[in-house]
Formats: sequence, C-alpha cells, structure tokens
Amino acid sequence: MGTKSSNKSLQKAKDIKNDEFYTRYDDIQAELNFYKDQLKGKVIYCNCDDPAESAFTDFFKLNFDYLGIKKLICTRYQKSNLFLLADPVRRSGYRLEITAKNKDDKKPVKINLKGDGDFRSPECIEFLKEADIVITNPPFSLFREYVDQLIKHNKKFLIIGNDNSRTYKEIFKLIKENKIWSGYTKVKEFGQPDGTFKKFGNVGWYTNLEVAKRNEEIILYKEYNQQEYPKYDNYDAIEVSRIKDIPKDYKGVMGVSVSFIDRYNPEQFEILGITDRNNVWDLSTKTYTVVDDPKYSDLNRRGAIKTNDGYKSTYARILIKRKK
Ligand SMILES: C[S@@+](CC[C@H](N)C(=O)[O-])C[C@H]1O[C@@H](n2cnc3c(N)ncnc32)[C@H](O)[C@@H]1O
Repeated sequence: MGTKSSNKSLQKAKDIKNDEFYTRYDDIQAELNFYKDQLKGKVIYCNCDDPAESAFTDFFKLNFDYLGIKKLICTRYQKSNLFLLADPVRRSGYRLEITAKNKDDKKPVKINLKGDGDFRSPECIEFLKEADIVITNPPFSLFREYVDQLIKHNKKFLIIGNDNSRTYKEIFKLIKENKIWSGYTKVKEFGQPDGTFKKFGNVGWYTNLEVAKRNEEIILYKEYNQQEYPKYDNYDAIEVSRIKDIPKDYKGVMGVSVSFIDRYNPEQFEILGITDRNNVWDLSTKTYTVVDDPKYSDLNRRGAIKTNDGYKSTYARILIKRKK
C-alpha cells in the first residue's frame, strides 16, 4: 500500500516536472503566421498560461491589432503545491483579459480566480465556452483529457503535443475521423523553470483549424512489385517503409510510417487503422501464440513480415488506402 501511494506521488512529481516546458515566442510566431485570417474577430483562450511567463500571452498581446483579435483570455494554473506551498498568494490561479480597451496598458489588471485555474474547473470551462479558439501548449501528462474536453465543447483549437500522442487510441481515433490533424511546424526546444532549454525531436502542433497543406497531394512515382512491398503475415496489407515510395498503382491497404499524418490529405487517402497499441479496428487477420522471446513481443499488434528465420516485426504503421 505504502509503495503504491509513494509510486503515485513519484509519478505525480514526474508529471509536474514533465509538464513545465515553456514555449518560445519564435516557435509560436512561426506556426501562428499561417492562421492570421482565421483569428480575426475571435476570442482566444490560453488556458494553461501564466501571463507572467507565457510567450502565448506576449504573442497575442503584442499582435492584438495585427491579428484583429476580439479578446484574449489567459488563465494561470496554481501549479503544484510542491513548488508554491509556502506562498499563499501564488497558490490561487488568476486570469488576464485583454480587449481593445486595455490592450495598451503596461500592466493589465489580473483578476483572481476562485479556484486553482485547472482547465477542467467549472470557472475555466465558462471561459472555454466563451472562447472561439483555444491556443496553447497544454500539460503533456493530461493531453488525452485536454483534447477530449476541447472536442466535447466543440471548440476550434491549435495546441502543442508530442508526436507519440497520435498513436494513443483516443487521439488516433480523432485523426482517423478527421476531427484533428497536424499543423505546419515542429517545436524543437522549450524553456524550463531553471532557465535552461530542453531539445525535443518529436513535438508539433495539433489543430482543427484550416491547414492548407492538407489539400496538397503526395506525388507518387513508384510502381508496385511484390519484392519491394512485402505483405504482412497478420494484416491484409503491404509494408511501405518510406512515404515517398507509396506505390501509385496499388489499390489495397498499405502500412506507412506514423509520420504520414503530417502529409495526410483526406481527399487522396483514407486512414483505416494503426498497427499499434490494440488493434481496435479489427484489421488484423491473425494473432500469434507469441513465444517468450522479445523478438516476437510486438507481433500481435505490429505488422509482421515473414523472414527466413521466422518473423520480423515492423514499427507502428498507419494503415491507409487510396481514395482515387
Ligand atoms: C507544457 S507547459 C506550457 C506552459 C505554457 N502554455 C507555454 O506554452 O509556455 C504546460 C503548463 O500547464 C500547466 N498545467 C498543469 N496542469 C494543469 C491543469 N490541470 N490546468 C491548467 N494548467 C495546467 C503547467 O503548470 C504548465 O505550466
């Protein structure tokens, strides 16, 4: 029991640490440049943003007129009592509201929240309802719950998230249903509370705003042949190891790398499923009696290719089919 609860608090402390990454102004600008027309006249809500330190707050405040925003709301989470227990003032959340009236004030008034500023709290949900578009970098540890709330409230959003999240059952389902897709840029580094920066190779933007590159088709030049595109043993699909090599003349199901999602045009392809986590789409044609050998541990869910000495498991693959 003791171990369980200490494991839990260890995990919580780890989550808190892993959630404290601050987005750089330049990265926000690089992505937001693409959406100017969609922000005009809108109420923007940054619901994981301490106005004192968030570059999202700075960006929208500085570009308030340029973007033609109607209102900016930022709410600050009290963070963790691990950090701030000793400081009762900083233990409550607060919000900042910028409108045409106070946009040029050097120190816009901070308004105390009743609660801690949790994005799930009733008062923050009221701000969410008022908002047209939610734009922020939310806590990575609560990503599923965060996205779920946005979808339930039928909100437009542009948020930062780890590329791995696209393989989560809940997020992948939304991608498959064309309710969420990737933005334009990747975010390579974030600030940390101690002032240092941490580099990431797999973090980008997720959105349901219009993204022009979603209308671009991947140009296909290769022709299908059995040698280069082996069939999986457990999915009725062929393995395509590089997106640029998707054969132009294959009408069946193809397994492509997860990065396909960054190139996905729903007019060109249909996403059928993913060979990862659990095959909730029932696409696999066979399950193995998996032998106690790490070489085979992924076989049941990942695509398996027969080799001379058994099977080779592939990486997680998105199963796609051409639409035309
Ligand atoms: C990845 S950081 C990004 C901070 C800021 N949005 C930015 O981009 O610089 C996520 C932030 O969410 C805050 N946070 C954690 N749990 C939260 C919750 N339940 N509700 C609102 N914010 C939360 C964390 O304190 C952290 O500052």
